[in-house]
Amino acid sequence: MTIEIRRLHAADAREYQALRRESLEQEPANFEAAVEDEAAMTTEAWAAKLADVQFFGAFSGQRLVGIARFHAETGAKVSHRGHVTGVYLRPEARGTDIATRLMEAVITAARRQVRFVYLLVNASNQRALRFYTRLGFVVFGHDPGGLLVDGVLHQDILMVLLPEAGTHDGPGMPEAEVPLKSD
Ligand SMILES: CC(C)(COP(=O)(O)OP(=O)(O)OC[C@H]1O[C@@H](n2cnc3c(N)ncnc32)[C@H](O)[C@@H]1OP(=O)(O)O)[C@@H](O)C(=O)NCCC(=O)NCCS
Repeated sequence: MTIEIRRLHAADAREYQALRRESLEQEPANFEAAVEDEAAMTTEAWAAKLADVQFFGAFSGQRLVGIARFHAETGAKVSHRGHVTGVYLRPEARGTDIATRLMEAVITAARRQVRFVYLLVNASNQRALRFYTRLGFVVFGHDPGGLLVDGVLHQDILMVLLPEAGTHDGPGMPEAEVPLKSD
């Protein structure tokens, strides 16, 4: 089956909405949003969001099998930072190279816009931790507060993809200016 990785558009809203809902239902401890948080969102509302925000999808033939979202921060002092959220592969698509290809597309897009790419992983999600580590993300922290799911506390691991020389070619990406101590 041919695999296609591409940015999602408004026309993908119905398929995205269904897979997003599946992700929240199947993996409540791996996503910040609860099913009820997004239950009122119509397909039209998702279409508007997909037209506005960078969502990526992996298609096996015509079927959407993987999703991920990227957004850059917008404040003047933080626009060099971006976040990957909502990464989910249908179970049958896991353990192939699809997730890697999807995330590589996200990272390529992110690198054009920001220098630092952040994400959160449930501390007990060893599979995702290995996956992101293989892609170059490193652990820089630990959020003991994490998520509370049905009364159970899930701690988060904070990961970042650091800038690499020559890999970000977008605007506003000067080398970091680290003030030198003069005394
Ligand atoms: C996280 C996810 C996107 C990764 O995709 P994937 O296709 O499963 O990833 P891969 O198979 O390419 O890589 C997973 C790695 O974990 C390893 N792994 C597989 N099952 C594992 C398990 N039960 N425990 C620990 N490691 C495991 C694999 O061997 C592989 O390691 P390697 O890179 O050293 O070979 C996918 O599993 C998924 O959608 N999970 C459910 C939702 C989720 O957790 N999303 C992430 C939220 S931050």
